[in-house]
Amino acid sequence: MPIEDLMWVEKYRPTELDDLVDQVAIKQRLGLLLRKKAELPHLLFAGPPGSGKTTTAMIIAKQLLGERWRDYTLSLNASDERGIDTVRHRIKTFARFADRVEGVPFRLVVLDEADETTADAQTALRRVMEENSELTRFILICNYSSGIIEPLQSRCAIFRFQRLDEASVTDHLKSIAKKEKLKSPGDAVFGAIYEASGGDLRQAINLMQAASASGELTSESVKAVSGASVKARVAEIVETAIGGDFEGARTEMVELTRVYGIPERDFLKFANEALGGMKVPDMAKAISILAEYDFRLVQGSQPELQLTAMLAQLSSLKRKAD
Ligand SMILES: Nc1ncnc2c1ncn2[C@@H]1O[C@H](COP(=O)(O)OP(=O)(O)OP(=O)(O)O)[C@@H](O)[C@H]1O
Ligand SMILES: [Mg+2]
Repeated sequence: MPIEDLMWVEKYRPTELDDLVDQVAIKQRLGLLLRKKAELPHLLFAGPPGSGKTTTAMIIAKQLLGERWRDYTLSLNASDERGIDTVRHRIKTFARFADRVEGVPFRLVVLDEADETTADAQTALRRVMEENSELTRFILICNYSSGIIEPLQSRCAIFRFQRLDEASVTDHLKSIAKKEKLKSPGDAVFGAIYEASGGDLRQAINLMQAASASGELTSESVKAVSGASVKARVAEIVETAIGGDFEGARTEMVELTRVYGIPERDFLKFANEALGGMKVPDMAKAISILAEYDFRLVQGSQPELQLTAMLAQLSSLKRKAD
């Protein structure tokens, strides 16, 4: 099954502005702007995680550019290199290419997590935006607009996404629960999910999926997947890797980070705690492996790849000891 169908966050990602939960003012303003496509300004989306920023950018791309929107859109996110070279080469080359056809008013550059872009790269971006504004529009996405240099902000129409409130999150979760034919859980369950996810709808949906995976969706199953049990599962994965079963450990890790949505650095933190209580052939080596990957994650390389490599190294300790 493709990952899009496996994960409810993707399966139920809205494809129309009207389907977006909440964000009423944003939908209204964007709706107006989209009536005159050719006059669309550059856009800046700021707001908390899981509030619909990336989703909205995808919807706009489809509405503006039609079926073949992917051919005319360059999407960069945190896993892409974001220094000045990327701006000078990839973005610039893409933005100045003149191939607009009937129905495609311009190319689109979507820079997700733009606040992670270095300051000199942002400065370079400013010129690229100016020089190519006839041909290309930019959508910058960030959590905090303060991470975006002032001259870039002033070139964009700014949209501030709000943290979703409990009623909207609950309604949305209920509609998904119905489509997934979950046995109708009580309101307390949704309250618990909201509590644990703090208005982050991605996290709320992931949590509901994880909590119902084991059978019934109850307050207990929500509690089980939202805290302590994640630690226990990380410990299991580390144990599997240390036992030499790399493939097994990897599969479980991917499920845990993607479906449960636990951040990769938390994975490492829990892994470190778990190591303490384990019998390991070469403890010093195991800890230095963890430290090495902790460093790499901070450096911002592809997190899933890094954790996979880490599990490979841990599982090779066993082979060496045998
Ligand atoms: N306003 C919303 N309406 C409906 N679904 C939403 C909304 N916000 C988030 N979601 C759900 O959460 C998932 C993640 O949303 P999205 O990628 O748009 O978040 P984001 O604001 O870009 O977060 P981040 O800052 O973490 O990148 C979507 O696939 C969708 O299922
Ligand atoms: Mg996003």
